[in-house]
Amino acid sequence: MSAGVPARTYRVAVIPGDGTGPEVIREGLKVLKAVRAVEGFAVELETFDLGGERYLRTGEVLPDGELERLRRVDAIYLGAVGHPQVKPGILERGLLLRLRFELDQYVNLRPVIRYPGVRTLIPSHGDGDVDLVVVRENSEGLYTGAGGFHRRGTPYEVAVQESINTRHGVERIVRYAFELARSPGRRRKLTLVHKTNVLTYAGDLYQRVVDELAAEYPDVTTDYVHVDAACIYFLEQPSRFDVIVTDNMFGDIITDLGAIIQGGMGIAAGANINPQGVSMFEPIGGTAPDHVGKGTINPLAAIGALQMLLRFLGEEGAAARVDAGIRFACSKMHSMRAGEMGYTTSEVGDLVVEGATA
Ligand code: IPM
Ligand code: MN
Repeated sequence: MSAGVPARTYRVAVIPGDGTGPEVIREGLKVLKAVRAVEGFAVELETFDLGGERYLRTGEVLPDGELERLRRVDAIYLGAVGHPQVKPGILERGLLLRLRFELDQYVNLRPVIRYPGVRTLIPSHGDGDVDLVVVRENSEGLYTGAGGFHRRGTPYEVAVQESINTRHGVERIVRYAFELARSPGRRRKLTLVHKTNVLTYAGDLYQRVVDELAAEYPDVTTDYVHVDAACIYFLEQPSRFDVIVTDNMFGDIITDLGAIIQGGMGIAAGANINPQGVSMFEPIGGTAPDHVGKGTINPLAAIGALQMLLRFLGEEGAAARVDAGIRFACSKMHSMRAGEMGYTTSEVGDLVVEGATA
């Protein structure tokens, strides 16, 4: 043991959450422990008991005191939220979306990368054929909860669910996407994905903002693809995309498709980012109730989320190690699908550690 206080110490909140969340987070923390030992920084972990079990036990979803503590950490590492015995919406809205909104994590960043050796449902066009990133607006759109019922439960019932799109909200997400498109390693191409032929107000606002900001980023090429057509391109020609910017709902949908072309939900990681505040990193796959407690779930998505967390903290060396570890694990695993990996959850974590510390 070396004496003295490490130069860099981060405070990370851990919310293992529901379903397979705790199992995949455990592997992520195993990898974190291994890389921080090598790279020489310290992490103070604070675990939060939030999710379905807590709600069923106490009726609490996200008490204000805990939210206040979460406002003060350097990053949040989240497993999954959702419970079969809890009515849909309570945990999703009360915990996951509340955190995204309260912490103003207005960017939902979802890289879609097919690592060498990973088989997917689409034909391979060689290494690097799938390497795009979806910048999903994460603070407004259909997700604000605006709307309501009239005459609920009667034959004359009306259900209104409105998409809220503010100039401020659209501008900040589009600007983030432009900046990302010109960052190192990207190909300087930004595609707006929307449905401007039908959503003539929200789509028009997005298109105008892209056109206006394009003048500030002459080095970035822009184009536009309708969301339905984007689904076809994801399968047929994913290499046409570099950075995609889209609204909250479209981003939710196309990133599940994105997960499939990168090998499955088991490898898809995401980050909820507030560039000036507290960001939250999570596998995007959910709770996988069928796999709980079996050691069959793929932890790579959670480990990918850890990699994004480390990069966000500025620990580039550690992030690169985790990337190498993920690639090593991918080269060994039979499949990204839960139960078909050829390894247990914990063994996949071990493979990543091996590749990350080599
Ligand atoms: C996701 C999830 C969430 C979303 C749900 C659980 C509220 O599907 O992170 O993609 O719709 O954003
Ligand atoms: Mn989703």
